[in-house]
Amino acid sequence: MKSTICCFLIFFLAFLINVNLITEGNALERTKLWPNMCASCHDGTTAISKDAIREKFQTVDAFTKAVLKKGGRCMNILKNDEDLIRKVAIEIGLRE
Ligand code: HEC
Repeated sequence: MKSTICCFLIFFLAFLINVNLITEGNALERTKLWPNMCASCHDGTTAISKDAIREKFQTVDAFTKAVLKKGGRCMNILKNDEDLIRKVAIEIGLRE
């Protein structure tokens, strides 16, 4: 009898840890800028892909300039926020 209760407790704890991991994973997703703000267009078909961007603009500065000056007109809504662009640059792994 005791071992059944023990077993149940272990399963319950495992369940709680699982739920915790899943919700934390989503919180992490929400803070990712690239997947939320850029990836839908920059998929390599509609617009240049993340990898191609990383090759073309190797530094945060070059990337930021390109977004502000060369980004498509559909990106105008993003262009008044240089801090955001810099955060995206760092997120996709460009160096300062
Ligand atoms: C609504 C679609 C759309 C979204 C959203 C979008 N882009 Fe763009 N972006 C484009 C298009 C289209 C071009 C290509 C413009 C051209 O070639 O004339 C472009 C061009 C660029 C360029 C210049 C590429 C080059 O080869 O010179 C950069 C850098 C860039 N985007 C970064 C971003 C970043 C960072 C985000 C997210 C913060 C983003 N874009 C969001 C559509 C989008």
